[in-house]
Amino acid sequence: QQYKVAVVGATGAVGETMLAILAERRFPVREVVALASERSAGSTVEFGDDELVVQDLASYDPADIDIALFSAGGAVSRDYAPKFAAAGAVVIDNSSTFRYDDDVPLVVSEVNPEAIRQRPRGIIANPNCSTMQLMPVLAPIHREYGIERINVATYQSVSGAGRSALEELGRQTAALLSFQQADPQRFPVQIAFNLIPHIDEFQPNGYTKEEMKLVWETRKILGDDRIQVNPTAVRVPVFYGHSEAVNIETRKKLSADEARALLRKAPGVEVVDECKPGGYPTPVTHASGKDPVFVGRIREDLSHPRGLNLWVVADNIRKGAALNAVQIAELLLAEGLPAKAAHR
Ligand code: A2P
Repeated sequence: QQYKVAVVGATGAVGETMLAILAERRFPVREVVALASERSAGSTVEFGDDELVVQDLASYDPADIDIALFSAGGAVSRDYAPKFAAAGAVVIDNSSTFRYDDDVPLVVSEVNPEAIRQRPRGIIANPNCSTMQLMPVLAPIHREYGIERINVATYQSVSGAGRSALEELGRQTAALLSFQQADPQRFPVQIAFNLIPHIDEFQPNGYTKEEMKLVWETRKILGDDRIQVNPTAVRVPVFYGHSEAVNIETRKKLSADEARALLRKAPGVEVVDECKPGGYPTPVTHASGKDPVFVGRIREDLSHPRGLNLWVVADNIRKGAALNAVQIAELLLAEGLPAKAAHR
């Protein structure tokens, strides 16, 4: 079957990677439609060796679309995802708009693929990047050893904040190296040569929304509301690839060797864990442009009998967003989603 696929936000950092990954993995498309705002309508984006002309989302008729991948921000998803779903498309949405709704599944392809079946609204949510990369690592541990508590500090690259954020890091770095002002626009303070402990909006409880996403989404994906999560989310001056320092407490004791053996078998995970210079994953050396979630620095917690430390790194634009969205689309194929053209 050949599907008509729409990418909404096709000119963005995630959207362009969705197109690249659809082409790379030879997703069976009859047609791919690139949609964005009227600002970029008429410009072109790459799809494999082809160029697609970007169309204005606001005036686009979704009647023929089988699968729509949305990554154009929460407001666009709120306004347009239900319209695409009503026209019979399955929407895979990368925003946080529907993630916490009980009737919208939140899916990591290696962890809870069966959840795609229950989609009464025709919408499937793609998790937030920082939760996404943790799940393929923590799910197998939770299944066998029972995770009680997760302490996590994130080191998140600027690409997670979109194309304008990539540009801001580049511009500020160049400006500061030539003795000019950083002039923050996209981020509240200078990001080049700095760290910012603030991602997304502050919540009444003093945490940021990015931090609360780690709490809410971990519980929903692992299907266990008892899991305690203690998050700190930090933006760092890295272009691509999020890193996370993770400490878990399990019900059953898990040694570092057992963890390495378990994670070597985990789908979507690659263990890089040697105690020598460079024997650990970093955004630049391992994750950027790659599909797996990399895990290293696996150590038993010196301060807790059932604690374990891990260092988890992944490409936030690929596994953290675009790749998982395409993997969800592949799950729909495996499930036998009928293409609309097949009915004609
Ligand atoms: P556009 O290029 O027309 O602004 P990023 O996260 O990298 O900033 O990308 C955001 C994506 O979402 C871009 O493709 C952007 O398109 C798209 N987008 C933003 N606002 C709208 C809108 N109102 N309607 C359609 N697409 C939008």
